[in-house]
Amino acid sequence: MFAYSQFLAKLPYPTSDFTGQTVIVTGANTGLGLEAARHFVRLNVAKVIIAVRTASKGEAAVKEIVRTTEADPSRLEVWPLDLSSFDSIKAFAQRAQSLERLDAVVQNAGILTQNWKVEEGMESHITVNVISPILLGLLLLPKLRESGKAYGKVGRLSFVGSDLQYLAKFQEKSADRPLLEALNNKDKTDMGDRYNVSKLLLLYAVRSIARLSPVTPDSPVIINCLTPGACTSDIFRDDTSWSQKIIMGVAMKIVARTTEAGSRTLVHAAGPDVGVGTHGKFLMNCQVYPNGPNVESDEGKALEERFGKELVQKLEEIRPGIYEDMF
Ligand SMILES: NC(=O)c1ccc[n+]([C@@H]2O[C@H](COP(=O)([O-])OP(=O)(O)OC[C@H]3O[C@@H](n4cnc5c(N)ncnc54)[C@H](OP(=O)(O)O)[C@@H]3O)[C@@H](O)[C@H]2O)c1
Repeated sequence: MFAYSQFLAKLPYPTSDFTGQTVIVTGANTGLGLEAARHFVRLNVAKVIIAVRTASKGEAAVKEIVRTTEADPSRLEVWPLDLSSFDSIKAFAQRAQSLERLDAVVQNAGILTQNWKVEEGMESHITVNVISPILLGLLLLPKLRESGKAYGKVGRLSFVGSDLQYLAKFQEKSADRPLLEALNNKDKTDMGDRYNVSKLLLLYAVRSIARLSPVTPDSPVIINCLTPGACTSDIFRDDTSWSQKIIMGVAMKIVARTTEAGSRTLVHAAGPDVGVGTHGKFLMNCQVYPNGPNVESDEGKALEERFGKELVQKLEEIRPGIYEDMF
């Protein structure tokens, strides 16, 4: 499947029309987010919000997109967003309520690192790749619904996962205590598996919120999760040793898609023509793909349910009443 996906699958060049629409892209200063933002501008979006943790990097991205597309710079706005801080996410979501409309959100920002770090009380992959994007997604859902109803367009809330979720060993699943607690045990963590686990948990979470928020006339929002496949980008920047960096660099040169090619999968998932059939689904190569045994096996189903309950509890701690307000 990996070889087919990387070498043979054809990713259609995005052509959907985004005229009049507003799109948020997290982590749009570099890598896949930057290339997706460039596509959105080329596809006539009215406004792209470049959501970044470092304003100067966001401004540089705007310059680069304006240079290559000749777009009016007023169509691009840089907003601060740090997924390592729940306060930053809440402030961002609050600000988004003032948008005239919001049509799509691409939850692209993410990390891959071998270094253990705790952010907002959890290991950083769990915070940045799982809990924070789901928190932000839920807080933006009312605006997406409101715009969908007002403008007669189905909103899109797309999460960038990874096909590495298929490979997650997830040894913490056997712990006889809450998963989020087990995932916080530094001494028992396999950091080589942690990114894969975070993307599996993200898929569990996306499926669970999609179930709670079906696409209806009152909630015209598609929620999906995609993998861009292996792409060249800065994602390995935190790898500890130079030798690891070199090995990964060479391996990626051989198998990886260009960042632009990978970004087409983001634009597809968040596009106005993506189709209700993608709601709650895992997408690869711009198509619905099997979720894999980590989701579909009896054990996977039980884990998804177990994690779903913990997720509700965690999000309620962070923002009391969030589930009642959103669903
Ligand atoms: N590249 C691949 O092969 C591949 C494969 C499958 C999935 N993905 C996924 O694709 C997404 C984009 O990755 P990429 O390859 O484009 O990587 P990248 O070049 O490293 O870009 C990651 C982006 O996320 C931002 N980010 C990281 N931590 C953040 C935080 N705490 N708050 C706000 N923004 C934060 C980064 O901002 P800074 O520049 O400020 O650090 C950067 O803009 C990620 O979710 C990744 O897991 C990538």
